[in-house]
Amino acid sequence: MAEILVLNGPNLNLLGRREPHIYGATTLDDLERSLSHHAPSDVTLQFFQTNHEGEMVERIQRLLDQPVSGIVINPAAWTHTSVAIRDAIAAIKIPFVEVHISNVHTREPFRHQSYFSDLALAVIAGCGLQGYEFALKTLHQHLKDQ
Ligand code: DQA
Repeated sequence: MAEILVLNGPNLNLLGRREPHIYGATTLDDLERSLSHHAPSDVTLQFFQTNHEGEMVERIQRLLDQPVSGIVINPAAWTHTSVAIRDAIAAIKIPFVEVHISNVHTREPFRHQSYFSDLALAVIAGCGLQGYEFALKTLHQHLKDQ
């Protein structure tokens, strides 16, 4: 049984209410329910969202003692700013897929840089919420290939 942790960064708790023309009308609860529903039978999912950078660092650090098989992370604004979260995820050595709902490369220049992509197994951007499903599939296949 593979355990996969789905991490969401700041403002993603506002999915469904936040700039729906960019991020859509689905809420984070609905997204998490749908991911659990569609997850392969040999995968269990855990979810965590926070607006606090230190909480995200600590959640990732806990994986040193309580590891999971893989991580799906949408670091949101921290993608472009957080060396601290990058260092935490580099420390735990667990494969992860970076997801962005929007295509960050067609948006403002400050969104073109990521502190995560060079460490990621894969990066998915611009596929909407389906990107999370693609990320799970990618991780699942990667874990089977190990
Ligand atoms: C985002 C893109 C980021 O630039 C932005 O700060 C977000 C969400 C996305 O999912 O498209 O909050 O990661």
